[in-house]
Amino acid sequence: MPKRSPDHPVDARTQRASLPLACPAPDVATPLLGGLTPAQFMRKYWQKKPLLIRQAIPEIEAPLSRDELFALADSDDVESRLITHFRRRWALEHGPFSPDELPTPKTRQWTLLVQGADLHDDRARALLERFRFAPDARLDDLMISYASDGGGVGPHFDSYDVFLLQVHGKRRWRIGAQRDLSLQEGLPLKILANFEPEEEWVLEPGDMLYLPPHIAHDGIAEGECMTCSIGFRSPSTNELTSQFLYWLAERGANDDNGKPALYRDPHQPAVARPAQLPPALVERVGGVLAKVRWNDADVSSFVGSWLSEPKANVVFDAPEKPLDEARFVARAAKDGITLDRRTILLYDSRSYYLNGEQYLLKEARKWLPALADRRSMDGKRFVTLSHDSCVTALLHEWYRAGWIRTGVLA
Ligand code: SIN
Ligand code: CO
Repeated sequence: MPKRSPDHPVDARTQRASLPLACPAPDVATPLLGGLTPAQFMRKYWQKKPLLIRQAIPEIEAPLSRDELFALADSDDVESRLITHFRRRWALEHGPFSPDELPTPKTRQWTLLVQGADLHDDRARALLERFRFAPDARLDDLMISYASDGGGVGPHFDSYDVFLLQVHGKRRWRIGAQRDLSLQEGLPLKILANFEPEEEWVLEPGDMLYLPPHIAHDGIAEGECMTCSIGFRSPSTNELTSQFLYWLAERGANDDNGKPALYRDPHQPAVARPAQLPPALVERVGGVLAKVRWNDADVSSFVGSWLSEPKANVVFDAPEKPLDEARFVARAAKDGITLDRRTILLYDSRSYYLNGEQYLLKEARKWLPALADRRSMDGKRFVTLSHDSCVTALLHEWYRAGWIRTGVLA
């Protein structure tokens, strides 16, 4: 039998069973990717080259109406930006914005960007489910933009893989794979100094453009328009290194007695030049740093914990009047359970990572991976687990914390 690579470990039936219904299985051709299978798309385009897909989601409706988007932008815990290009001058303001602080839709050349819409609205979160043929660990967020006629954010590039899905009105996109990514100086936005578009299309509702990182692009609204950006983060090597070293340091090093290890210099002689950095001190620090060690398990722990950490503005809504455990179990057995839209649950062969914390899988390996992959569990499956009081106690704790809810979203 051929060996299976760990990234393709399952047959088609298992693939379907573990995926959310909205997401195409790796080997099934889908209109979402212009008739390619997710496997073909990942091989030919992901991180490699742009792809325009006409009618990726025919009859798409914007997950939020214009007024609902404006209402989100009025909230303190939502990240929003207003970009205007009035009289050829770029300006940027950060939200929240009350609706009367926004220009009117009839005013030309402005755009409102609302980051993390998936954290605030279940319909926005539901849209992301279609894109889970790429690992959750890479997913960043759903940004929704509203633009008046002529609005846009100027020619720029991102460090993200992004699917730009047109959900209302039309937008003209121009893109180019230029090497020169220098930026105009003195502007509040990152605008390319020398944009050299090579291709141009007008996207209508349902059309989608995939761009890998660092492709120059400029989207200009033709009439009022809304665009959803499904973004996948590509952390820089610098960010990975600094986050990992920070994680290692936080984990702390203890001495043989279990106390935090301290820098020590009992043989430091008295000095006549107090400002001079003693070479022996530098040598001792070098000795401490040379002892820093990590293994593959540490790297997995770091990656899982870091990538499952909720964004800084995320607050979970614990239920106001939580059901006690018995009532929770009865309700979940009837209606099933769903991960809250803000919950990030990842797993590997040893551990699971829930909202930034690592736990050993142990007995949970029987049910947790399927819950993490589908983000829900129906009542029938819950019943099969409910004889185990450890499982129900654990899930009740998650419910009380607001990490899961009862019911399965349609
Ligand atoms: C937008 O939706 O206005 C901008 C999205 C982008 O260019 O990344
Ligand atoms: Co962009």
